[in-house]
Amino acid sequence: MILKDKKILVGITGSIASYKACDLIRHLQKKGAEVKAIMTPSAKQFVGELTIKALTGYEVLSDWKDGETGLEHIYMARWPDSFVIAPASANTLAKLRIGLTDNFLTSVALAYDKPIVIAPAMNTKMLQNPATQENIKILKERGYIFVETKEGILACGEEGVGKLADIEDIETVILYSIEDKPLKDKTVLISAGGTREYFDPIRYISNNSSGQMGYALAKMAYVLGAKKVILISAPTCLRKPYGVEKIDVVSAEDMYKEVMKYLPEVDIIIMNSAVADFKPKTYSKQKLKKAKEKPIVELESNPDILKTIGEKKSKNQVLIGFAAESENILENAIDKLQRKNLDVIVANKLNVFSSREHTGIIIFKNREKIEIPPMDKESSALFILKNVFK
Ligand code: CTP
Repeated sequence: MILKDKKILVGITGSIASYKACDLIRHLQKKGAEVKAIMTPSAKQFVGELTIKALTGYEVLSDWKDGETGLEHIYMARWPDSFVIAPASANTLAKLRIGLTDNFLTSVALAYDKPIVIAPAMNTKMLQNPATQENIKILKERGYIFVETKEGILACGEEGVGKLADIEDIETVILYSIEDKPLKDKTVLISAGGTREYFDPIRYISNNSSGQMGYALAKMAYVLGAKKVILISAPTCLRKPYGVEKIDVVSAEDMYKEVMKYLPEVDIIIMNSAVADFKPKTYSKQKLKKAKEKPIVELESNPDILKTIGEKKSKNQVLIGFAAESENILENAIDKLQRKNLDVIVANKLNVFSSREHTGIIIFKNREKIEIPPMDKESSALFILKNVFK
């Protein structure tokens, strides 16, 4: 679990979106985190303190307690690995900007000595008001990390930006606030998913790659501070990771074109997609009818994208390939590493394709090897990137 052993403090301010903090707390716990929460007096008007206490398993701090030391805001500020304010109201943003400590949450914030994650939620006009915009700008300059709001229909019925970001995106930015930034200044290209090779408008040849590993790698490249992450994705059911630029493709040919277009501007290329090695030789614009004789689909080779990059790449570009093998994993992977001129290959058994878990081995050009212990795909993606880019 990606947040195992992480302590996360969720600060809840008053907003119609306050109830979404309950989902955030559960989500972070499911990812392995220990969560405590603090609420502003106004947040308590929107969501019950008892609900938050029951979810976290801790007393909800919203004030200094009689008979205590009066230093609880300092102790609380030293406790977490990450402090997120979600939802963050316009009022709290204004208080943070001027360093006001008129409640327990803003006092903890002022005493906190690491970057605070802020997920705002408010009416569009309130968000776009120059006062709020200036507060956000200044807080960003001071190192606060913002999770951009979403666009949609707001609780007031108006439409626009200002909706609280999705829980998964807030989680990504929390991770970003915790991890070191070995990919700072790097542009990373990642390919994901199984390509589809159509032979009529609705029928195609493909494979059972879910795309999960590629998407997890894109998310973790952002978390580790990449300047830009380009995810070139074959069709999947997955949502776009936060902070990532996603380009949708269908076939191996489409993927080849997009990868080649971006190749000159990237520092790191990770080919995780399951590219179909073959495509149908012909394509029928009309749906093929049930014929008396079964249709024969003749195949021809697709371009080997990884091999082409290996031939074209400059010596500053790092090229990482994946090898899913059913037998002789190590020998086959090393052979691919050499044949395709890779810097690193990640080898695993074929059964990781549709599985939630990943395990395998990282092999470097100099034959150094690192075992990847079995873990969920997000944890594995983070493990791979942290070990390759130490
Ligand atoms: N790959 C690619 N283009 C292809 C086929 C594969 O870029 N047409 C990339 C994959 O994204 C992966 C690596 O090559 O990073 C290895 O893919 P794999 O299917 O294991 O290897 P193949 O080269 O197809 O070799 P084989 O089928 O003989 O195992």
